[in-house]
Amino acid sequence: MTTPLLTMQHITKSFYGVKVLDDVSIDLRSGETLALLGENGAGKSTLIKILNGDYRRDDGTILIDGQPVAINEPRDAENLGIRMIYQELHYAPELSVAENLLLGDLPRRSGALKWLVDWQQMNERARQALQLLNVDISPSTKMRELSVVEREIIEIVKALSRQARIIVMDEPTAALTPPEVQRLFGIIRGLQERGVGIIYISHRLDEVFEIANRITVLRDGKHVGTHPRSEVTHQALVQMMVGRSLENRSEARTKTAAVVQDAVALDVRGLTKAGAFANIDLQVRAGEIVGLFGLLGAGHTILTQAIFGAVKADSGAISVHGQAAHITSPQGGKHAGIGFVPLDRKVNGLVLDMSVRKNITLSNWHVLAKFGVFQRAQEMNHSRGWVDQLGIRMAGGIETHTRYLSGGNQQKVVLARWLEANVKVLLLNEPTWGVDVGARSDIYDQLEALAAQGLAILMVSSDIEEVLSVSHRILTIYKGRLTGEFSQAEATQEKLLHAAAGGIV
Ligand SMILES: Nc1ncnc2c1ncn2[C@@H]1O[C@H](COP(=O)(O)OP(=O)(O)OP(=O)(O)O)[C@@H](O)[C@H]1O
Ligand SMILES: [Mg+2]
Repeated sequence: MTTPLLTMQHITKSFYGVKVLDDVSIDLRSGETLALLGENGAGKSTLIKILNGDYRRDDGTILIDGQPVAINEPRDAENLGIRMIYQELHYAPELSVAENLLLGDLPRRSGALKWLVDWQQMNERARQALQLLNVDISPSTKMRELSVVEREIIEIVKALSRQARIIVMDEPTAALTPPEVQRLFGIIRGLQERGVGIIYISHRLDEVFEIANRITVLRDGKHVGTHPRSEVTHQALVQMMVGRSLENRSEARTKTAAVVQDAVALDVRGLTKAGAFANIDLQVRAGEIVGLFGLLGAGHTILTQAIFGAVKADSGAISVHGQAAHITSPQGGKHAGIGFVPLDRKVNGLVLDMSVRKNITLSNWHVLAKFGVFQRAQEMNHSRGWVDQLGIRMAGGIETHTRYLSGGNQQKVVLARWLEANVKVLLLNEPTWGVDVGARSDIYDQLEALAAQGLAILMVSSDIEEVLSVSHRILTIYKGRLTGEFSQAEATQEKLLHAAAGGIV
């Protein structure tokens, strides 16, 4: 057997006395994709942060080509050819693709002008780098003009052009629709052919089955098993992740019948914002879950922002339960009874330096503070209730600041707040972004239960399976215009993708 490219042996790590990684060992071969699976908080991100030198391990060894290496800070990892493609990419929007690719290593002109960047050479070198993986993006394009998947691809090209041997992707497809996922997979296959080893973290099992050669499962910080893809089933993996079979959860989720009422809860007429969307007419009834599906950049995200008041529309009218709402700021949205889970929760979804308890009851404080007495006990009960319902897990209990929660658990807190908030209309962007399979079905159950009580939900999601399984009705959007409307019975993946790509329905 050949020596693995990377071996991590007996890795152990604790935070505040709680062991989040306990004697974990993995290995990675050249040219393979190793998927890392596990429930929210299982320790996946912590393991790769140790590999990248972001966190110090308490114990364990890391070997590259069979040789022990010292990784104490990110620079060490970089020198060893290890690269992370992060969930949230940091990039300078005004830089061109070429500048971004060669950042820190820009070619200079020769002779008297040697302090000037040699633009011609820069573009040529960038073109060569892009060609390594057959990427069809012009080197002079500005970073801000790229879609999310294109930015990820540029990061990967950058890593490869700097001799990366190990590339780690932590949920790279969380906001990608099926065609974009395929584009990324094409790039990953190119990396495999070049002998790069890839560690791939995802909660989307179908993707893992498509791209991974081997699959490692972590549970509560322990290594449960590693198997070649061909030797495990979807069901077996879920069982390994949760430690029991999920019979009455995700697999066999029984959908409650819709209790859609006649009353229109959200009524949007002629909503227009130049350059983003035009003439949007849509209604969501009380009790109804409407899915809004579009490819990246179709305008759905900004549309929900405009309905809430986070961005200003140019014209159009919004009413909630027949009452005209004058929404020009998020205050206006809240006042009208609209709740909003934004796409970028790090910016306006979560207060990182506030406890889980307070984050959950944040938008409901006026109810809890009724009669002037703040009902702390009640606040505690409400928060605890959601922590149980959605399986929110953290090393330090309900008073832990949300900063220290794993990605998926942070997401559950944001959602819990709005489920708690007592609004009439709820706008959701990617409600299960980064959430594990078990908790995902709990969230769907909660959405259905709240809808059954009369809540109107408008949900934007790039996960087409989610859109199909949760929505009572689905709208598609393409270049800022609604292009299709489907009942739950008539909607299929093909029809949605066709309409979302601008096809005539
Ligand atoms: N800096 C930190 N301080 C305290 N606890 C932390 C810190 N980073 C992670 N943890 C805890 O370690 C555990 C593992 O978290 P990690 O982020 O590795 O999970 P994960 O498997 O990546 O989950 P997810 O799928 O939700 O992203 C969690 O209980 C988390 O709260
Ligand atoms: Mg994580």
